[in-house]
Amino acid sequence: MTTTPVAPELGGGAGLVSATMRSNIKLVEDQATRVFTWDYERDRTQLVTLYNKAMGSQWNSVTDLDWSTDVDPERLVQEMGDNAIPPLYRKVATLPGSPIASWTETEFTRLGVELMKARLSQFMHGEQGAMITAAKIVETVPWVDAKYYAATQTMDEARHTEVFAKYLDSKLGDAYPMSPFLEEQITSLIEDSRWDIAYLGMQIVIESLALAAFGELHRTVTEPLLKKLLRYVMSDEARHVAFGILSLGELYGELSSAELKERQEYLAENTLRNRARSTTPEVWDRLGIPAEQILPYIVEAAQAMGGSVFAAFQRAFFAKLVPNVSKLGLLDANDGWLRQQWGRVGLLEFESAADTAEDYERYDSVAADRAAAAAGEAR
Ligand SMILES: [Fe+2]
Ligand SMILES: [Fe+2]
Repeated sequence: MTTTPVAPELGGGAGLVSATMRSNIKLVEDQATRVFTWDYERDRTQLVTLYNKAMGSQWNSVTDLDWSTDVDPERLVQEMGDNAIPPLYRKVATLPGSPIASWTETEFTRLGVELMKARLSQFMHGEQGAMITAAKIVETVPWVDAKYYAATQTMDEARHTEVFAKYLDSKLGDAYPMSPFLEEQITSLIEDSRWDIAYLGMQIVIESLALAAFGELHRTVTEPLLKKLLRYVMSDEARHVAFGILSLGELYGELSSAELKERQEYLAENTLRNRARSTTPEVWDRLGIPAEQILPYIVEAAQAMGGSVFAAFQRAFFAKLVPNVSKLGLLDANDGWLRQQWGRVGLLEFESAADTAEDYERYDSVAADRAAAAAGEAR
């Protein structure tokens, strides 16, 4: 094995990595300060409750999921119908001159399989980002109860990364690279010197999004292994969002108007810029169709179908995010600055929906399954 000195940005000569490894890593410099605390008092009771809950509802990625389940990717996609092969692409095939005009159901099914792999690949990469971010919170948050909780979250995210990677590798096939949008979003919060931005960007924004995305897939998939995997991942994710709300609620009660404005601007910037997902050019490449050739037809089909194809998903996303942000006081701080920004694009309809600090228990499928199993044994 050839080894080369570690890049200076990794600490200059602190060790050696192989040439192969270098091509498989990304270096991100964290600007935040590590915090050691001498205060071991358990006085944040809601975080103590959440931590105890997290310990009790840990699950085992090897024994709690039935990996012997036989998964046929084509059947998985066909059973999901329009939820796996969006009607948008069927419309694309009907447009004059479309590069997929001659497609039969076989090709559409292949597209559905590739889109599913692309979707699960972003989940996998996002989970690794969440693992790194939770570890950063262990290091940077000043409260011992939050350090303890973030340590359990780090383990949860390791398990999530692992199960998505294993499902892709053993059941579906080659994963896709991380989308540049997601990579940029996660990298920037790992780099940030303000420890609460890790929370705001991950536990509040990305994990509210993840809860919505996992929920949507869970609702529409019938393949039993993936369905159970998603139920268990969501049961952890709801706690993670609750962790963000409970921790930041305390901090934001103490910040100045100017500091709160920075956080409001962060939220506006991370939610209002064009969130339209890329049309995953790699998917088209794998199908042998140049992305630049099909893109104009996708745009035309989306317009013909009445605008944003992501509208329904975006609604679900904000249905979690808006009440969570409202609970933190960030909608109304600074004379309702964020309320005005979000109101302009019609997001306030979700303001009074249940926030995740209140409804995380409802997601706990792990505890529910165990209670049901115990009741079955007692019978
Ligand atoms: Fe996760
Ligand atoms: Fe999470």
